[in-house]
Amino acid sequence: MSAPNKSYDPVEVEALKPQEIERMRDEALAAFAAAADLEALREAKAAHMGDRSPLALANREIGALPPQAKAEAGKRVGMARGAVNKALAARQTELEAERDARVLVEEAVDVTLPHDRVPAGARHPLTTLCERIEDVFVAMGYEVAEGPEVEAEWFNFDALNFEPDHPARAMQDTFFVEGKDKKQESGVVLRTHTSPVQVRSMLDREPPVYVVCPGRVYRTDELDATHTPVFHQVELLAIDEGLTMADLKGTIEHMVRSLFGEGLTTRLRPNYFPFTEPSAELDMECYVCRGESVGNPEKACRTCSSEGWIELGGCGMVNPRVLVAAGIDPEKYSGFAFGFGIERMLMFRHNVEDMRDMVEGDVRFTRPFGMEI
Ligand code: DAH
Repeated sequence: MSAPNKSYDPVEVEALKPQEIERMRDEALAAFAAAADLEALREAKAAHMGDRSPLALANREIGALPPQAKAEAGKRVGMARGAVNKALAARQTELEAERDARVLVEEAVDVTLPHDRVPAGARHPLTTLCERIEDVFVAMGYEVAEGPEVEAEWFNFDALNFEPDHPARAMQDTFFVEGKDKKQESGVVLRTHTSPVQVRSMLDREPPVYVVCPGRVYRTDELDATHTPVFHQVELLAIDEGLTMADLKGTIEHMVRSLFGEGLTTRLRPNYFPFTEPSAELDMECYVCRGESVGNPEKACRTCSSEGWIELGGCGMVNPRVLVAAGIDPEKYSGFAFGFGIERMLMFRHNVEDMRDMVEGDVRFTRPFGMEI
């Protein structure tokens, strides 16, 4: 900066000469116009408007001028800086608009392109149906109990009062894992039903016992539309003082109404199972036709084959011999049991016609059941 100059003539201060100021201004305007993008404009701004730019340095010279010269020089520099500022702002707006337009084009998302996202699957309806059934019983105070699928022959048959030569033990029905030999008290099988969990549950607990036992079971059947070698059952066991067949019927009727609709009834037909006495087959009133299809061809019902009843499963009062095998005093306690197949229930509940659909794992089968949890 020059020293104060009493006999000042602005023409003599080089940086404040009108042509100089104009040159600085024009250079700045040209630099802004030439800036091709915002980065270049930022550089041009630093060069022409920054602290060390010619105009800023000229501005500083004003302070050293004598008072009478300040006004004129100040006006000249101020007007030049004003013009430069305006040009900068205009170019800034222009370049921002250009950038925004470019970003819109470059970053546009083509929503019509095929995507590679893997579609969500769905839970298997056997799982959700099992859980629904469990929920009905858990709400009544039952406990969910489970047992092994590879089971001791003793639990699967002997403790349940199957005679040693009972036909169900035969190789045709049962997958044997290990036979009974001299060293072993019991053979090992893939459990053929969930009833062994009854015995395990009684041995594990003190009465009263209220358990619901869902699980996978195995039989030597070929896979076809109505058979599968691996399927699911749910077993029910209640042991308490004074339980009767009426408790059994009322309990199952509650399950039927919860799963299929209010007001439905059930009926018992005599049957035989070694582990229950008396034993029965339990049917539920057809929830689709409610019996109206019986003897009425115009109202034929596919769900119950116009019989008015749907077979659910086996049940009965726990045989005292089973209570004894499980260490429970049959003089003090009685109990009821019920066992039924889940695949069959899924078939008539959802009109599934071929059991193979349930095991093939095709999502086109499971997806229509949705994401019920
Ligand atoms: N376990 C039998 C079966 O798989 C079904 C059954 C019948 C279960 C009667 C029971 C029952 O609990 O009381 O064929």
